[in-house]
Amino acid sequence: MCNNIMQIIKADNYRQLAILGANIIADQVKNKPNSILGLATGSSPVGIYEKLVELYQKEHLDFSQVQTVNLDEYCSLSPSNPQSYHYFMEQHLFRHLNIQKENTHIPNGLEADPQKACDDYNQLLESLGSVDLQLLGIGHNGHIGFNEPGEEFTNQTHCVDLSPITIAANARFFEDESLVPRKAYTMGIKSILHAEKILLIAAGEDKAEILKKALQGPITPQVPASILQLHKQVIVLCDQGAYSKLEESL
Ligand code: GLP
Repeated sequence: MCNNIMQIIKADNYRQLAILGANIIADQVKNKPNSILGLATGSSPVGIYEKLVELYQKEHLDFSQVQTVNLDEYCSLSPSNPQSYHYFMEQHLFRHLNIQKENTHIPNGLEADPQKACDDYNQLLESLGSVDLQLLGIGHNGHIGFNEPGEEFTNQTHCVDLSPITIAANARFFEDESLVPRKAYTMGIKSILHAEKILLIAAGEDKAEILKKALQGPITPQVPASILQLHKQVIVLCDQGAYSKLEESL
């Protein structure tokens, strides 16, 4: 019954992590040009996106048939707001590639009716089918996407109240902590687990403790990323700092 594969790759530093991560995504796109990629925001994937842009520019990695679905978006931020995840994806990736705008999908932060925003995204995910490769970062409290620690794992796209720890961590992207939206739309755990393959990235010593809990601790909704232990194919790509507390037996 238990035939899940978790592969842990330790990069020497963030630069190497970025190259390895971009190569994994590039191989996916080369092997299946119409791949559905699940994409993430935050600072961890930035270097990977830079390398993917390089691969597009120097080696003509072709994104013309690729579809993307992003994990999450802040409620109430418009795509033109520099702190929105729409803006982030445009700046760091989409505008540099030959990806078709209509093939990129992100929850609609401006939809005021949370039920509709979530239903629309769930419908979209269902119509696309399985994500081939899902890129994930990890929050300091173990969140994936914006699935915050809680009493249970939440299945599908939903509207979350961001936890104080997430608001504080993400305040660095805003002028002031008071400007960080208190709510976000996020893909649910079940939708994330539906991906064929997951690439979890973690960089820096400040992620070491939570990475250990997620990969080697009990599976609990208090550490949302711990559910990845049940997924059939996870690649964990981390730098030395994030790796530092993992037990070697893995
Ligand atoms: C945000 C995003 C997550 C991301 C997390 C970690 O909260 N919603 O998808 O994984 O931040 O971000 P960072 O990589 O900046 O530590």
